[in-house]
Amino acid sequence: MNPVLKALEFRHACKKFDPERQIPRAELEEIIECARLSPSSFGMEPWKFLVIADPEIRQRLRPACWNQPQITDCSHVIAILTKPEAVKPDTDYIKAMFARRELGAEAEAAYLQRYREHMQAEVEPQMSYHAWASKQCYIALGNLMTAAAAVGIDSCPIEGFAKAGVEQALGLDGKQQQIAVLVALGYRAGAQTPRLRLSQEQLVEYL
Ligand SMILES: Cc1cc2nc3c(=O)[nH]c(=O)nc-3n(C[C@H](O)[C@H](O)[C@H](O)COP(=O)(O)O)c2cc1C
Repeated sequence: MNPVLKALEFRHACKKFDPERQIPRAELEEIIECARLSPSSFGMEPWKFLVIADPEIRQRLRPACWNQPQITDCSHVIAILTKPEAVKPDTDYIKAMFARRELGAEAEAAYLQRYREHMQAEVEPQMSYHAWASKQCYIALGNLMTAAAAVGIDSCPIEGFAKAGVEQALGLDGKQQQIAVLVALGYRAGAQTPRLRLSQEQLVEYL
């Protein structure tokens, strides 16, 4: 069996974590590495990963997250943040991200122009920079959860929160750094709910 499929069959949105079990640091770092290696539009890596073990911060965070017990019971909460100001066209960040490719001045200028035009034509009319960056963050989220599942670590993606409340609890300014999504990581306590999915027949069309 494809090992990724095996991991995906193990993964479920864990509602009840064992509060006594902690993920070893080396395993945690390897899981985060899988998120770090995720692809992003134009290679802009518009994310940051805030790894929260501190019980006090998690107590503060929980009320902003519909009081969900996963926030305090899991081993670690990872907040995936966007950098919406940094990824606007022609910022120092964007310039540095293209410059690191060492393509030469002409190619670099062409990339900056392509990026600027794409953002102005396709992104700005449709969504905020936070929303655009969040789309990339969710790719990292998926890789992170699959990587965790591959080594028997449970997760729960968490979007059930009040954005401003989470940002306040985490001391984010809500401008340079904003919350895209949270993920709780740890080990399941007890049986999990059955998996419900539409079938391939309902979802897939071959042309
Ligand atoms: C972006 C996103 C946000 C979610 N937010 C929550 C959440 O706040 N709390 C929760 O218990 N589950 C949350 N879930 C889990 C979904 O409810 C779950 O993935 C879905 O019901 C399918 O179940 P399964 O993942 O166990 O197969 C979220 C899932 C995603 C992808």
